[in-house]
Amino acid sequence: MKADRPIVLVGMMGAGKTSVGRRLAERLGLPFRDSDEEIEKAAGTSVADIFERFGEEEFRCAEHRVIRRLLQSGPTVIATGGGALLNEATRSQILEEADTVWLRAGLDILLRRVGAGHTRPLLSRGDPLAILRKLIEERSPVYAQAAMVVDSGIDDEDVVAGNIIQALKRHQAR
Ligand code: S3P
Repeated sequence: MKADRPIVLVGMMGAGKTSVGRRLAERLGLPFRDSDEEIEKAAGTSVADIFERFGEEEFRCAEHRVIRRLLQSGPTVIATGGGALLNEATRSQILEEADTVWLRAGLDILLRRVGAGHTRPLLSRGDPLAILRKLIEERSPVYAQAAMVVDSGIDDEDVVAGNIIQALKRHQAR
């Protein structure tokens, strides 16, 4: 499978976008970028600190700038933060300029993976289970705008990466 533009992974925190994305990039021989990591590099501080000091809105602006830049790097696997698609400008850019995959996982898996939520500012605002449930409900229709959906359940990242490659092949063949 030969990519001719960026491949963007979207979906909830804990769905495995970073670990699966890294594996997918290796298998396709493409560079890998993680938008949260790039935001942290540019800001010189953590995502949690940006939320705390400047608020979510400011974080979404930084996220938009970083993703716009990453989309210009040609074929690259890009893992986005779970809220990236909520910003309308970021969403339309991703959907237009990349092959977008929703990495979908159920509530129990997400809860297990994000644990106590220390690094996820949105989960530190209350009961992680209730917050995750609400976010899944609100965001699923937005994630569903991705061109492809691949389930990320109990399978390891290599299996999920393989399933994404199959989905990309089918998508390209259309
Ligand atoms: C967020 C998800 C996080 C990070 C930030 C906000 C969200 O990324 O961007 O904490 O709104 O869902 P991950 O999905 O990589 O955890």
